Parts: sequence; structure tokens; C-alpha cells
Amino acid sequence: MAKEAIQQRIQELRDILNKFNYEYHVLDAPSVSDAEYDGYMQELILLEEENPELLTEDSPSIRVGGQILDVFEKVTHKSPMLSLGNAFNEGDLRDFDRKVRQGSNEENVRYVCELKIDGLAVSLHYEKGLFIQGATRGDGVTGEDITQNLKTIKAIPLRLTEEATLEARGEAYMPKRSFGKLNAEKEEKGEMLFANPRNAAAGSLRQLDPKIAAQRNLSFFVYGLTDLEGQTITAHSEALDFLEKLGFKTNPHRRVCNTIEEVIAYVEEWQAKRPELDYEIDGIVIKVDNVEVQQQLGTTAKSPRWAIAYKFPAEEVVTKLLDIELNVGRTGVVTPTAILEPVRVAGTIVRRASLHNEDLIREKDIHIGDYVVVKKAGDIIPEVVNVLSERRTGEEQEFRMPTHCPECESELVRLEGEVALRCLNPSCPAQIREGLIHFVSRDAMNIDGLGERVITQLFNEKLIHTVADIYTLTKEQLLALERFGEKSASNLIEAIQASKNNSLEKLLFGLGIRHVGAKAARTLAQQFETMENLRKATVAELTAVNEIGEKMAESAVTYFETEEVQDLLRQLEEYGINMTYKGIKPADTANIDSYFAGKTIVLTGKLEMMGRSEAKKKIEELGGKVAGSVSKSTDLLVAGEAAGSKLAQAQKHNVEIWDEERFVTELNK
Ligand code: IVH
Repeated sequence: MAKEAIQQRIQELRDILNKFNYEYHVLDAPSVSDAEYDGYMQELILLEEENPELLTEDSPSIRVGGQILDVFEKVTHKSPMLSLGNAFNEGDLRDFDRKVRQGSNEENVRYVCELKIDGLAVSLHYEKGLFIQGATRGDGVTGEDITQNLKTIKAIPLRLTEEATLEARGEAYMPKRSFGKLNAEKEEKGEMLFANPRNAAAGSLRQLDPKIAAQRNLSFFVYGLTDLEGQTITAHSEALDFLEKLGFKTNPHRRVCNTIEEVIAYVEEWQAKRPELDYEIDGIVIKVDNVEVQQQLGTTAKSPRWAIAYKFPAEEVVTKLLDIELNVGRTGVVTPTAILEPVRVAGTIVRRASLHNEDLIREKDIHIGDYVVVKKAGDIIPEVVNVLSERRTGEEQEFRMPTHCPECESELVRLEGEVALRCLNPSCPAQIREGLIHFVSRDAMNIDGLGERVITQLFNEKLIHTVADIYTLTKEQLLALERFGEKSASNLIEAIQASKNNSLEKLLFGLGIRHVGAKAARTLAQQFETMENLRKATVAELTAVNEIGEKMAESAVTYFETEEVQDLLRQLEEYGINMTYKGIKPADTANIDSYFAGKTIVLTGKLEMMGRSEAKKKIEELGGKVAGSVSKSTDLLVAGEAAGSKLAQAQKHNVEIWDEERFVTELNK
């Protein structure tokens, strides 16, 4: 074939394939069979292989996946990729509308409602109509260059219908059907499954080999136009129509609403219709349509004031309650935990849920073997909502709390005014072990390398019994234990030594005096300055301190009067543990106008939008305090991805729980 004829055929094939791609992946209206498509693609690939000089950046053959990369390059976004503030109910939506109208001085504001696609945000750069670079959101400022992987997504045009230069943003996602197929394949191969379509999409786009992404059947909805050269767009709805005309896949369910009532109706409609979609949505995004009004409202550091995300309420699922397990805590409280038939709820597999106490089990009439409704409170902590009593077969067993401690067999008691059952035996091994774990935890002595597993090991080997024993440990003893090497043993000894210099409040909290949480421990340390002063303090002297109540004061006095405690403190002092307060006097937070002022906040899980230390700094700037563990004095728990036991603690103490987006929104207020 003559060169010219070849070039012509290549162009013909590209046009045909682009048309098929568009029909199938953007319009969702295929006009040819897969076999026919594959035939054209094979022909194109062959011709390009034979004539490499004719290969172009926008050839549909690129979609099968190009070269394997070593690393993803970093990309700084031209303008930051912001996130959205959250609304959880109708009231929040009306508040948003009110603020928008006040902030813009408009009587009536037009909104565009869109489905909030549960995938990952990406930005796409086009120059003169050609797709040149695509990146992940990253931390909003800097993302990763995943152009090669994005090119495999057939709903992303490699060339636009016009020679436009622009940046488009949208959501890459994995359709539910593809997700199901992918996990079924993985299961067959004995591989780890993806928890949800969002993780599967993110995992696919983070592969250095684009061929993997190419096989993953990802798709893409565009939802924003950020930088368009040479043209002016006056409304968001207009931008979406324009993007659609350029060849992008826009979501067909978007709707322009003229009032907040219409917005609320849209939210309700899609909450009900959510299961009908072939992709996961986790809410509705509401945006001011008029660009001028958007500009008038502006943005905070993290999110625009002209848009908000309505988050759907927690998903509820049914599963079987297989058993009820008992755990003895540090203070002797025996907590029942439901063991569930593993079930997927809001993206993760749930196997256990705390049942808190016997009263709750009675109240909800929970039997072993029952089918129960499970949800995640605040979309995070698994919780048994209720029992499906109509599904009972008669085989279910009533649950009774034991009369004796499952660990030491002492009789359990219910203290006056408490719902919990307690083991009062101070030598109960479970309590001692939990007490040791508490002593080394982050808010207490914060001994690195000494977690639950190692403590249990040391305790079982009878190397430690009281907290003072921790300071007698030798490297040789550690080396004799399983999983300890030269390096880890010296590191641990070093960490133990370092903890001797902690300020008093850490020791005080670590001792685990009943009712004395991290916050109270700090207050006491600040006020009394030395352990000696505290040991001598009377109930009256203690309650004279702001924030220290009768119950706490009495508990502290009783604690220090105990002979074993006095021995323990003497021993700790002998081992060189610091017993004085080293911190600063409490800051004056009274005149700071912020939600966080004077509050104690715990951060847990992975925070995506800012690092732990940045979050801590911001809270402190706003007059709040960040604590390492949840206690009764915690005001708020901020739970990032994959949060663990602190959530359960927070729920137990009825602490308010926020996700990261909500937290960031409040920080920026
Ligand atoms: S607009 C400036 N529209 O939701 C705000 N976001 O925090 C730009 N998302 O990670 C976002 N569907 O990726 C917008 N129709 C939609 C969306 C959407 C999903 C994601 C977005 C971001 C998060 C918002």
C-alpha cells in the first residue's frame, strides 16, 4: 500500500473507532458489536506498528495502554482543586441557600443539582483540542500525573470537537457492574478484593502499567470547566452543555433548579432512585449556576461558598448476629460485642459491633442468631440498629450477661447509677493488661514500639505486672521474645527511657485514675505542678479547680490513699520517672470566636486534605486542644479514612463525630 493510502486508511480507522467509542462510552448507545470494534482496532494497531512515524498522541490505539512508568510525576494544579462543604439535612440546605442569597444580595438564586459521583477527582488539560495532561487531585495543590492511565478511559476524549484550550475537572469512577466483575475475578484468583468501586478506581489509576487501567473498565463524568482560553462562559449549566458539545461525557441527570424547594425535591428524588444507577453516588452536589454570583461569593481556603455537597444518610444492611463476645476493659467494665456474619456496609466489611451494655441488648431485644439491621454511625462506627423479629425461627438464644468475670471469675457488680457490669478485682489479669496498654498509649506515656501486642506478650511472659515493671525491662529480656531483634529491642529500651522525662500530666493520665481523663490530668498537673502536691490535695482543694468535679476529686483522693498506689509511686520515683509539670499555663481562649475554642479534639484515621500536624496546628490556633485518645472529656472526634478503635470509644462516650470534610469546612469558617 502506498504511504498515502496507508495514512488515509489509518485516519479512516481512527474516525470509525472514535465514533464507536463516543457512541458506546459517552452516549451509552453502541452501534457496533465488540467483535467489529476489535477488528478495526487490530487493523489500526497493526498499521501503526508497521508505520511508527504515523502514530499520534490522540490515536484511539493508545487506549489499550502505553509504556510502563517508573514513577508518577508531581503536577501542581493551576488553581487548587477544592473540596466541598457538607449538608446532612434539609436545614443545612436551607442555611446554604440563605447564605448564598445574603452573600450575593440576590432574592432568588438559580442552582444546578448534580449527582455526587463516588470516584476520584481528576483534572484534564487540553491544548488546542488535544488531551495533553491529566492529574489526580492529590492534596488539592499538587497531584500526580496519570495521563497514561487516563488515556485508557474511553469516556475521556483524546481530541475535542473544537480546538479549545481548557482545563476540565470531573470524576473518574468504576461502574458497579465492572466492580462486581473485577472482584469476582480477583476472588477466583485468590487475590485481595477491593472494598468498594471508589477504591477500585483509585487503585486502577495508581498502577504504573497503563495496561492494567485499560482492562479495568473505568469511566468518567466531567463536572467542571476551570480554565477556558478565549471564550467567556456565564453559567455553570452553560459550561456543562459546552463540555458536552466538545465530546465529554456529562451526567444526564443534572437539573437546573430555580428555588431551594426544587433542590430539596431533587435530593429526595435521587436518594430514592440511587440504587437504579450503575455507579455509586454518595450525595448530591448543589452549585450556584451564575458565574458572576459564584465569583461574588468566592471561596474559603478549602471550598467554594457557592457550592455544597448533600451527603446521603448511612446505608443500612441486614446480617446475622452469630455470637456475643465479652471484653473486660481497664476499669473492669465488661462490654458485650456482637460478632456478625461479615457484611459490606458503606464500603467496608463489618464483622463486629459494640453492644455497649446489657440494657441496650434488652432494649433492642437482641438474641444470638437474630437477623439484625446494621449501619455505620456517622458513616463510620458499626452499630446494630434493630432486630428483624419477624425473621426469627425459634432457634435464637436469649443473651444473659454472665454473673462472673470471663477473665478472672470474680463476681460482677453493677455500681449504683451505672448500666455497666464491672469486675472489681484489682488483680483481674484483663484489667491489669488493659491498664498497661493504657499506660503506654499516646496520650499517656507514649512509648513507641510498645503497643497492645507487645504488652500482651510481656504480660503473658510475666515480665511485667505493674506499670513500674516496664522500667525494669532489659534488652536481653526483649531479645528472648519472639519477633524482637537487636534493633527493635534497643529502640524500645530507648523509648522507655525517653518516657521518663514526660511532663506530669502524661504520667497522671497513664495511671488510669477513675474519672480522670487526659484533659483533667492536664488541668490537675497545671494546677498542682508536682505529684507530691497532688497526693496531699484534699477533695475541697481539688474541686476548687475549675473543671474538677466532686466525683473526680473523690476518686483521686481515694486513689492516692491506697497503699499499693503509694508503693507504686515510690517505685516510679526511684526508677527516675519525672513527677513534675513541664508544660505551659493554659492559654486564654475566651476571646477566640471559633467552634474549636476551648474544646478538646481527637484526630484519628487518615486525613486526606491536610496532615495531622497541620490540623493540630490549626485547631490550636483557634484555641482548641488536640488529644491523642478519646475520653469523656473529648468534645469532638475527627475521623479520617480507616479509623479504628477511637471511633468505638467516641461512640461509647457519646462524643460528637465528624468526617474530614465537615472538619475542614468548620476550620475555614
Ligand atoms: S464539584 C469546587 N461536582 O466530590 C468543587 N464534585 O468535595 C469541585 N464529586 O472530590 C467539585 N461528583 O471529586 C463536584 N458532580 C460533582 C461531583 C463532585 C463527585 C467529588 C469531587 C470531590 C468531592 C467534593
